[in-house]
Amino acid sequence: MKVAFVTTECVPYAKTGGLADVAGSLPAELVKLGCEVKIFLPKYSLIDENRHGLKHNWDISEMPIRINGVIRSVHVYQSKLPNTDINVYFVDCPHYFYRHIIYTNDPDEDERFILFSKAVIETLQRLQWAPDVINCNDWQTGLLPLFIKDNYSWDRLFDNTATLFTIHNIGYQGLFSKSVLFSAEIREGLFYPGGPIEQDGAVSFMKAGISFADIINTVSNTYAHEILTPEYGAGLEATLVQREADLFGILNGVDYNIWNPETDKHLPYHYTINDFSGKYLNKKYLLNHFGIKPDENIPLIGIVSRMVVQKGFDIFADAINEMMSLDAQWIILGSGEDRFEELFRKLSNLLPGKVGTYIGYNNELSHLIEAGADMFLMPSRYEPCGLNQIYSLKYGTAPIVRKTGGLADTVKDWDEQNHFGFKDGNGFSFYDYSGFALYKSVERAVNVFKHKDIWKKIQTNGMKLDFSWTRSAEKYLELYKLAVENRQRL
Ligand code: ADP
Ligand code: GLC
Repeated sequence: MKVAFVTTECVPYAKTGGLADVAGSLPAELVKLGCEVKIFLPKYSLIDENRHGLKHNWDISEMPIRINGVIRSVHVYQSKLPNTDINVYFVDCPHYFYRHIIYTNDPDEDERFILFSKAVIETLQRLQWAPDVINCNDWQTGLLPLFIKDNYSWDRLFDNTATLFTIHNIGYQGLFSKSVLFSAEIREGLFYPGGPIEQDGAVSFMKAGISFADIINTVSNTYAHEILTPEYGAGLEATLVQREADLFGILNGVDYNIWNPETDKHLPYHYTINDFSGKYLNKKYLLNHFGIKPDENIPLIGIVSRMVVQKGFDIFADAINEMMSLDAQWIILGSGEDRFEELFRKLSNLLPGKVGTYIGYNNELSHLIEAGADMFLMPSRYEPCGLNQIYSLKYGTAPIVRKTGGLADTVKDWDEQNHFGFKDGNGFSFYDYSGFALYKSVERAVNVFKHKDIWKKIQTNGMKLDFSWTRSAEKYLELYKLAVENRQRL
């Protein structure tokens, strides 16, 4: 099975969230299952070319691609994904990708990813490499299935190429004005109210992906069901219901070569399920760094997150006084909306011995928080999969989560499980999206923490679980086969 994996983020090159972790680890598992995989990524200026050994691919040479009536000169760079033999192709177009962030609010945001999608197809042509499946990810690559089926349908190379569209987050849809039809050279006839690319009068890249891909998946079972409802479908629920037979949920795996407390290269102290001593040393190290006095009997609650409403920061803000009244310490790492950044900055100024805040992106600190914290908070309004709670389980850091999407599929509430006679609870969860419900579950966790033997049981229940990619990659392979069978022409 030949797979082109098209993504706008990939560890170790460029990351804003979980998509990068997925793109950096799923392809290697697919290779183990016998797939031939090539990864495609924009060459952002923030990618360190020397560190990652990017080389200009002279065989592909210059590709002229017309976007919004202007011909752009595109080149391709190449590298190998670390510790694998997988070729990564970087689409180079300085006009669009040399900006200081990956995703922008610039007026040509649509053009940036139209160019990327077309450049991927043209690179495949130059390589004369016909994938069985193109695995597109999120709205940025949503037009690609349409391009393959329409704009490039003249090319016999793609006669047997199917597409899988993976939805990592339906909340971001790529909605742009009708001018996209001209910029991307999409047939006018495809745009009409209720049509395959129209959403509220705009062109929706996400809807195009859903409409034209042969198979669609999202990153957990629960989320695959949730997005069929108005509460979670973000306006695309009806479109998804129409394609329900082709919509699947596959839980993300994690890369335990990177996220494992026994070997994590970012940790000063390692620890195992049999010997937790290193965990407390990490906690001390982390708290000292923030000038907070460590105490074995006071739980440390960690947060590593994009600070946006999706992640539940609005209900956190609602319950802030109650949360701060709990006998707990907090380390918060993240960036996002100004109002949330401001809230946590203020909090650490007001309560310096209790709250430590780092506003920004810091990979090393994110590992240290996973290891040093006793609990990890993710009160998401919605969560397609969520990776941090899965990392937390492996690090013996009890997740406290809202029961939605991938959080519901990975975290088992201790009390609820106990109530039904199971002793396999590994964290805490709540249903209602409210500050009160959030506060109550954090309070519950803080109380259970006092019972060291129970706490240890919760930790080991989590650490024993295995969310490595092997099983999920097999499911992707099944979907690729289905996409090939399902392949339809326009
Ligand atoms: P999402 O993709 O919605 O942001 P996930 O839980 O799937 O959520 O993945 C988030 C990833 O990004 C995790 O690997 C997490 O550690 C990382 N991350 C998020 N914010 C930061 C930050 N401020 N600094 C370092 N890593 C971060
Ligand atoms: C998105 C989702 C997150 C998921 C990640 C990787 O960013 O918000 O829940 O884990 O994609 O699939």
